Amino acid sequence: MARSRQRFADGKAIQWSIDQAGVSDAIGTITLTFGATDAKAAALGFVLARAHWGHGLGSEAAREVLRYAFETVALEQVSAEAAARNFASLRILAKFGFKHIESFIDESDGERCERFALDADIGSSLLASNATPGC
Ligand SMILES: CC(C)(COP(=O)(O)OP(=O)(O)OC[C@H]1O[C@@H](n2cnc3c(N)ncnc32)[C@H](O)[C@@H]1OP(=O)(O)O)[C@@H](O)C(=O)NCCC(=O)NCCS
Repeated sequence: MARSRQRFADGKAIQWSIDQAGVSDAIGTITLTFGATDAKAAALGFVLARAHWGHGLGSEAAREVLRYAFETVALEQVSAEAAARNFASLRILAKFGFKHIESFIDESDGERCERFALDADIGSSLLASNATPGC
């Protein structure tokens, strides 16, 4: 929490906790991390406690933070990375119009990952029309 506050104060990232009514502790987090060189780009990351998977909460959180990124912060692009085995996160990114950029191996654990990017024009129009492809 202290690290999140410091990164927010430094303008490096915004991290939200994902809460659920009736549950006292946060059930996950979703983060926008701003580029060191490009003020109009950020990376999206989200994680939810396993007990809460499969109820649409990841999709809901991603939608609201993407809306904030494009409408409030006026970012030009949001990128994201996901493990190739995490089908739910791949599905969320596809639903919101993210385009696949490349596959790579995470050197920290040898896991195959995928990198995606979503441009503001595509992301904003999908969010505005409420039309998520493939839904
Ligand atoms: C990614 C994560 C937050 C998903 O949260 P969630 O609340 O379970 O996701 P949702 O319930 O919104 O489901 C998202 C979609 O994935 C689909 N899905 C879920 N499990 C799936 C599977 N095993 N195979 C294919 N699709 C799957 C759902 O049907 C849904 O698609 P739909 O909207 O078309 O029905 C959660 O899996 C997680 O914390 N993973 C670990 C961290 C991670 O990978 N983060 C992403 C890095 S940016």
